[in-house]
Amino acid sequence: MTDAAATTATRPSSLPVKPRIYSGIQPTGRPHLGNDLGAIRNYVALSQTYEAIYCVVDYHALTHVHDPELLRRQTLEMAAALIALGLDPERCTIFVQSDRPEVTELCWVFNTVTPVGWLQRTPTYKEKRANQPDDVNHGLLTYPVLQAADIALPKASLVPIGRDQAPHLELTREIVRAFNARYGETFPEPQAVYTESPTVLGTDGVKKMSKSIGNTIEVLGEPEVIRKQVMSMVTDTQRIMRADPGRPEVCNVCRMHRFFGDDYEEIWAGERTARTGCVDTKKLLAERIIAHYAPARETYRELIADPIKLRRILDEGAERIRPIAQETMAEVRERMGLR
Ligand code: TRP
Repeated sequence: MTDAAATTATRPSSLPVKPRIYSGIQPTGRPHLGNDLGAIRNYVALSQTYEAIYCVVDYHALTHVHDPELLRRQTLEMAAALIALGLDPERCTIFVQSDRPEVTELCWVFNTVTPVGWLQRTPTYKEKRANQPDDVNHGLLTYPVLQAADIALPKASLVPIGRDQAPHLELTREIVRAFNARYGETFPEPQAVYTESPTVLGTDGVKKMSKSIGNTIEVLGEPEVIRKQVMSMVTDTQRIMRADPGRPEVCNVCRMHRFFGDDYEEIWAGERTARTGCVDTKKLLAERIIAHYAPARETYRELIADPIKLRRILDEGAERIRPIAQETMAEVRERMGLR
């Protein structure tokens, strides 16, 4: 991400001077190692340079989560985890989407400038329709419009996302452009910030780490659980005997060592010469992950045990967005002829 990319975003005069970044995070409960290395670490880094807003998107989750208790719990777990993993509520804004319902008004407004064809063509819509054929609710279709409203409400110009979200961001840009064309320059066309991180494979060593596949390492879980998950990891499948030399560049355990300590080359050398075995390398990785996440685990546990404190942090986040949201909506209403 360069400053040049930031300045190419169209920026109407009423926008904040410091580029504002926004990202939405699905309330999937306690995040795993892949979530942290693949996204959350980048959110933390970006929050040190930009004015950052992070939102746990529970309205979006309603398109596939229909259990109220589960939704509430997973929303709070994700919020607590974001804080525990390093997002400082003093330095950035963390809030829950449904605490700022103005976004649903903006979503409706955006619906009226969005051709249905754009939404029907969206690859994620086609995927979801295939994945939940018995529940093709209208929310699935309009999902990217709500996402556009999320980003546009605070007039964010940068959006940290994974590559899988590229079609949604392109749609956001088109929706904003359509609004601006009809009602005058109001919103910036946001730019994606593709977070530079290698895909983190799961314990199976084949598929991307994902809760739905069940190949995760629960970094905020109990050390015993982490140990068990790391010990179950698939290593170099061609290394059969302890004396065989390993191939660290294809071994998922060895690759993960790169994130935990600066001596991974030495660890790799040990594997190549069969000085160390897969079990040694796994044990070391497990202990390093446990140690690395110990403070986060502690903070997470405290926040989950103190829902009043967590609620207060999230209320403050939503309050900070209130004047921004109200200003945007006043402008939108004025431009569209609403009273
Ligand atoms: N669709 C995103 C996902 O599935 C979540 C999301 C909702 C989002 N609103 C957003 C991401 C706004 C970036 C910006 O992960």
